[in-house]
Amino acid sequence: MDIRTILIIGAGTMGRQIAMSCALGGYTTILQDISGSALDAARTDLESWADGRVAKGKLQAEFADAALARLSQSTELDASAAQADLVIEAAVERLDIKRSIFAELGKNAPAHAILATNSSTLASSHLAEASGRASQVCNMHFFNPALVMKCVEIVRNEQTSDETIQAVTAVARALGKEPVLVNREIPGFIANRMMGAMQREALNLASAEVASITDIDTTARTALGHPMGPFELMDLVGLDVIDFIAQATYAETGQALDQPHPLITQKVTEGKLGRKSGEGFYEYRR
Ligand code: CAA
Repeated sequence: MDIRTILIIGAGTMGRQIAMSCALGGYTTILQDISGSALDAARTDLESWADGRVAKGKLQAEFADAALARLSQSTELDASAAQADLVIEAAVERLDIKRSIFAELGKNAPAHAILATNSSTLASSHLAEASGRASQVCNMHFFNPALVMKCVEIVRNEQTSDETIQAVTAVARALGKEPVLVNREIPGFIANRMMGAMQREALNLASAEVASITDIDTTARTALGHPMGPFELMDLVGLDVIDFIAQATYAETGQALDQPHPLITQKVTEGKLGRKSGEGFYEYRR
């Protein structure tokens, strides 16, 4: 399947970096969001990221400029969908909103277009029916920061066709990513299940005052070779996102183990969401 134009829905932390990855991969890319100011903020952020890469000698200026020229932005979902061969939805993690987006995409995207969701918690089978093209729907789950992390989990639902899997796998490879295939829908897929287990243990150790969060993080880095400790990583991902993932997982599994941890709930209640709010388990200078 010939994929030339990719539409990314949602200009948040994930959407904007997925869009830039697609533009760098040579695809004509449209970043769509209902908020014009979110799109402008994303553009400013990506331009400054590109400037930084050029200054560091990691990206040629002409290559960066060409990628930014391939990346357009729009507040119009229907008109953008009409141009897309592949859509990667990275909007807010709400099923009702995603369903209405997939219904619009089903009506407006060309018949051949594949509709993927970047959701880490909502399996694509919940969106397949709304889209009216179930065999062309799957999860394509990127990791934060999406311009850096290589893994893309490609998750098939019962109706996803082999052609769809092959096409999104080829796109992920063209972006320089390492796609992995998840053969059936399971809460948390692969990475968030493993990450959740590690975080649960770290939160329990900290709650029981066995060690400080700094020492737990240091142990993960220096004993296990992780690039970040679990608390640093939760601050990067966002404690509201960690809380939401736990809630969604618990709603699906009903296992007490999956419930949001009280330490996370407390931070979220206090508005301490991690790096994005300036404070989580650690404080960040603005
Ligand atoms: N955006 C874009 N690029 C970034 C970045 C960001 N937010 N943060 C760091 N980078 C880049 C830097 O520019 C740098 O690039 P070069 O080496 O090519 O110059 C590179 O990443 C390394 O950055 P630093 O030297 O500043 O710091 P580091 O070596 O500690 O790396 C890190 C930062 C890449 C984030 C690394 O710590 C890491 O891999 N951490 C783990 C991240 C992780 O586990 N992510 C998955 C989260 S789970 C998820 O996303 C799924 C979900 O559903 C919630």
